[in-house]
Amino acid sequence: MNRKVFFIAVMFGLAAVSNSVAQQPRVLTVHANKPVATIEPTMYGVFFEDINLGADGGIYAELIKNRSFEFSKPLMGWKVAQKPFTEGAVTVQNRQDKQSANPRFVRIKLANVQAGQLTLTNEGFRGMGIKKDVRYNFSTLYRTAATGISLKISLIDAKGNVLGSTVAVPAATGNDWKKMTASFTSNATEPKAQFSIEIVGNGTIDMDMISLFPSDTWKQRPGGMRADMIQMLADMKPGFLRFPGGCIVEGFDLDQRYQWKKTIGPIEERELIINRWNFEFAHRPTPDYFQTFGLGFFEYFQLAEDIGATALPILNCGMACQFNTAEVVPMDQLEPYIQDALDLIEFANGDVQTTWGKKRADMGHPAPFNLQFLGVGNENWGPQYVERLAVFQQAIKAKYPNIKIVASSGTDPDGERFDLLNNALRQMKVDIIDEHYYRRPEWFLQNARRYDTYPRNNVKIFAGEYAAQSDKTVSVDNRNNWMTALSEAAFLTGLERNAGVVAMASYAPLFAHVDGWQWTPDLIWVDNLRSLGTTDYQVQKLFSLHKGNTVVPVLLNNETVAGQDSLYATASIDSANKELVIKLVNVSGDAKVVSMAVEGIKKLNPNARQIVLQSNDLKAMNTFENPLLVSPKESAVKLKGKKLDYEALPYSVNVIRISMQ
Ligand code: AHR
Repeated sequence: MNRKVFFIAVMFGLAAVSNSVAQQPRVLTVHANKPVATIEPTMYGVFFEDINLGADGGIYAELIKNRSFEFSKPLMGWKVAQKPFTEGAVTVQNRQDKQSANPRFVRIKLANVQAGQLTLTNEGFRGMGIKKDVRYNFSTLYRTAATGISLKISLIDAKGNVLGSTVAVPAATGNDWKKMTASFTSNATEPKAQFSIEIVGNGTIDMDMISLFPSDTWKQRPGGMRADMIQMLADMKPGFLRFPGGCIVEGFDLDQRYQWKKTIGPIEERELIINRWNFEFAHRPTPDYFQTFGLGFFEYFQLAEDIGATALPILNCGMACQFNTAEVVPMDQLEPYIQDALDLIEFANGDVQTTWGKKRADMGHPAPFNLQFLGVGNENWGPQYVERLAVFQQAIKAKYPNIKIVASSGTDPDGERFDLLNNALRQMKVDIIDEHYYRRPEWFLQNARRYDTYPRNNVKIFAGEYAAQSDKTVSVDNRNNWMTALSEAAFLTGLERNAGVVAMASYAPLFAHVDGWQWTPDLIWVDNLRSLGTTDYQVQKLFSLHKGNTVVPVLLNNETVAGQDSLYATASIDSANKELVIKLVNVSGDAKVVSMAVEGIKKLNPNARQIVLQSNDLKAMNTFENPLLVSPKESAVKLKGKKLDYEALPYSVNVIRISMQ
C-alpha cells in the first residue's frame, strides 16, 4: 500500500487499526431538551451555473442550437442542403446598427423551389431528446413579401425516420417581423433526433429565433424548462437556489461578465454571449457553448419560487475572473455595477409602480419575489475585492438594510488569500461569507470539526460550493462515487451541528450533460432524455429532507461525534412533525453497534424509522443502467423506552426519526 492509499484506508476504516477501536462499547446520547442552534430553512440548497450544458442544452428546454444565428460561426449547429446548389440562396444577414442585441437572421431566396430541394437541419445540443406522444411547439420570427412559401418542419431520428411533421405557412406578408407557430406530436422516443425545415415556394423569406420546445416543460410553461431536471431539484426541497454561478458571473473578462439586465424582457432582445466554459479547459473544449439567456433572471426567480427555494442571486462585483484576465473596473467607474445591484433588488421586490418592479410585473409576476439575499462577487479575492465590496455594502445597506449580503472568501478554504478575506470580511461585518471547498474525501473527514471553533456572532457561513474530488480538482478522472458521497455526509454532520454558524450549504456544480461536460464531479448527470441522481445527490437530498429545525447535542461517550471510531453524527428536532432526527455516518468498513439513549424528554414513541444509504463498495456509482444502486432504504426500528440499540452498517449514512408524540 503506498502512503496515499494507506491514509485513505485509515480514514475510511479499511485498515486493521479500526478493528481494535471497534470493540469498545459505544453509547450515543442525545440531549433532546438542550437546543444548541436554529437550523435555518435555507440550510441545504442548490447551486446552479450554466456549466456542463446546465442551462442551454440543459434545463432550458429549447431544442434548437443557435436559434438566432448569433454564435461566433453564424451557421454552427445548422446544415443547409440545396439541390441544385444556388449561390447566395441562403445568407446570414447582419443588421448590427438596427438591432445590436440580436443582429443576425437568415435570408432565404427561393427561385421556384420544390419539395426536397432546400432543407435547413439543426442538430440540437448533442442531438435532441424526443419523446413519444409529446407535442412539440415550433415558432419562428419571419418576414416575407411573397405568398405561397411554406415550411415543412420535421423531427427525424438517428436513422432518418420521421418522428413527426407538419407544415407551417406564413400568415402575412410585409416588412414587419411576425411570429409563425406550428406544432406536431412525435410517434416515437429518440435520444438523438434532428430537426429539419424544408422550404418550398418562390420569393424571399427572412427567419430568426427558430425555436422548438417540448410541450411537457416544467409546469407546462411555453418556452420553459426541462421537467425531469427540475423535478430532481424539487425533490430535494432545497432551501435556496443560488444563480447564475459560479465563474460565469465574473466572466473571462468584464465584457463577458453576467449582466442580469440583459437577461430579462422579450427573448429576442436578450443579447447572447459566449459561455466562458466554451474555451476554459483546453482538455474539454466546447466550441458550441453560448449563453442565449432564454433562461434569465426572471426565470431563475420564478424557478426558485416554484421549488419553494429562497432566491440567492450573485452579481459581478466589478472584477473579471482572476484566473483569466483579472480585469477590474476602476473604482471611479463602479457606479453602474452598484446600480445593477440596487435595481435588481427593486426588480425582485419593488412595487409595480417602480421602474424595475414594473418590468417584473410586465413579465407576468406582479407580486414581489421576496429577495432576501444578494451575493456580491463569486470567487474574487485580494484587497481589490475588499474595496469594491465595501462600496456595494454601503450602497445596498443604505437603501435596503434588510438584504443580507453574501461575500466571497475566494477559491480556497485556507491559505493567505483566505485569511486576508476572512479577517477583512469579519471586520466589515458582512452578513454571510461564502466558502468553497473542492477537496479530496479525506479533507472532508478531517474538517468535520471545521466550524466547531468559528466565532458565534452575526457573521454566518455559506458553504457555497463543495464536492469531494476522487482524484483532484478539475481532473477528468473525478468520479461521483460512494466514497465521495460518504465523506460529504460526514462533513455535513459538522455543518448541521454548527448550524448556529453555517446558514447555507450547496454542492457544486449541479448538472452535467454526459456528452457536453467540462467539469466533474457533478451532482446530477443527464443525457438528452434522462436525469441521474449521483451518490452525492442522494446524500444532499437525504440531509435536506431530514434537517429538522433545532440542533440538539449528540455525544459519543460524552464527546462530539466527529470522527472517533469512524463515526460522525448530528441530531435535531423537527418541531413541525414533532420528531427527533438523528444522523449517524459510519465511514468504516465495519458495522458499528451503538446504544442510543435520548435524554431530556419524558416519552418517545417506540416505533421509529430509519432511512439508510449504504454500500459496501466505496467505488459504487449510480449509473443510467442502475440509477438507484445507492439510494435510501426505509424500515422500522423499535425503541426500548428511550433507548435504541442500533447497528450502523459499514459505509452507511443513517437517519433515524423518532416521534416525540
Ligand atoms: O463549480 C465550478 C466552478 O468552480 C465555479 O464556476 C467556480 O465558482 C468554482 O471555481
